[in-house]
Formats: sequence, C-alpha cells, structure tokens
Amino acid sequence: MLGFLSEAIRNYRQTGAVAPSSRGLARSMVRHLHDQPGPRRILEVGSGTGAFTRHILSGMEDGDQLDAVEISKPFADALEANVLMPHRQACPAQQCRVFQCPIEEAPLEGPYHLVVCGLPFNNFPLELTRSIFKIMLGSMHEDGWLSYFEYVGMRPLKFPFVGESGRAALRHHGALLAELEHRHGGYRRLINMNIPPAWSVHLQGAART
Ligand SMILES: C[S@@+](CC[C@H](N)C(=O)[O-])C[C@H]1O[C@@H](n2cnc3c(N)ncnc32)[C@H](O)[C@@H]1O
Repeated sequence: MLGFLSEAIRNYRQTGAVAPSSRGLARSMVRHLHDQPGPRRILEVGSGTGAFTRHILSGMEDGDQLDAVEISKPFADALEANVLMPHRQACPAQQCRVFQCPIEEAPLEGPYHLVVCGLPFNNFPLELTRSIFKIMLGSMHEDGWLSYFEYVGMRPLKFPFVGESGRAALRHHGALLAELEHRHGGYRRLINMNIPPAWSVHLQGAART
C-alpha cells in the first residue's frame, strides 16, 4: 500500500490511482475468465502490485498462461517477487510472467482469451489510448473479452482543473470509449465498493459489423 502510494506520488500520470483496486473491482474485472474454454491465454496490462493478478491466478487452471505487462520497475519487481514466483512454485503446470515495459513495446503472444486492463486512460493523450486499444483488441481471440475500468465521474471532475484543450481531450476520450463499447458489444457494471467507485467495462473481442 505504501509502495503503491509512493509510486503514485512519483508519477501520478502513469499510475492514475493512489491505492490498489478493491477485491470487488478485481472480481468484476476477471468475471469473463470463467466462460472461456481452456487452456486459456490471459493478458494483464498495468498490473501494479497485483490487485487483479491475484484474482486471475486464483481462477487459472493447469495449462493456462498469464502474461502481465507493467511499465514501472518497482511494481513489476514486487509483482514477480510477491505474486508470480510463489504462484509458479505452487502451480508448476501454469505459466505466468511479467514484462517490465510499456504495453506498446511488449512482446505479446496472443491470441488472448481474456485481457484485463488497469491503465488510467483519462490521464493519457487520446492517440496513446487509441493505439493501446488497437494493440489489445488486435491481440485477442475473437470470442474473448477485454475488461478495463474507469473511476465514476472522473472526466467531469477534472473539467474545472484543466484548460479548454484538456476539456476537449477528455470529451474525445469519452467519445472514443463509448464508441468502442458500442462497436464491441460492451456493457459496464458499477462497483461501489472501491475507492473511488468505479465502472468495470467489458468488451467482446469481435467487433460488430
Ligand atoms: C491505476 S494503476 C492499476 C494497478 C492495478 N491493476 C490495480 O488495479 O490496483 C495503473 C497501472 O498501469 C501501469 N501503466 C501505466 N502506463 C502503462 C503502460 N503504457 N504499459 C503498461 N503499464 C502501464 C502503471 O504503472 C500502474 O501500475
């Protein structure tokens, strides 16, 4: 928790949160793991210290593989030492590894049946968000699911603190996320038991024609 906070203070734009996500949000983020046939490939983007990773690992079965991608070295190192290495020792027939790099540079080995994404898109330039969704959706199985989250009301909350160009960027972000949700047969769930409350958003791998 303290490690998470100090990394957030060091780089809030990239971290996008001051505390790890709650168990309630984590459960919602991995809900589609259970409707995928095995063996499954899972991609987690922006793992942090492993709030979602632990739930993914606990739902995995022998033969499944998890690729986690985390840009921050302190987070990636903590994830490997505290979460992935103990899991490999306990479940040698399951694979899990972390790539410490931005998702834009990760050596992905899809297609993935589930993509769980914890990135703080509202802090990113629009083009970066667009290209990250392209990478994630492009590496998915067409019957797979992509789950990401966003804090409730975050864009309107930021409006008074950013200039006109910042407001335009936030509006464009909202429009992009709404378009993706529509095109990929998506839906969202409200998770009140999180600080702050959040939407988990779930997109199907295949786009509607
Ligand atoms: C909001 S935190 C979520 C952490 C964790 N999944 C959770 O929910 O508690 C966002 C995480 O994304 C990571 N991150 C930011 N940009 C990234 C990128 N381009 N590629 C991979 N990870 C990134 C940050 O370092 C941070 O750990």
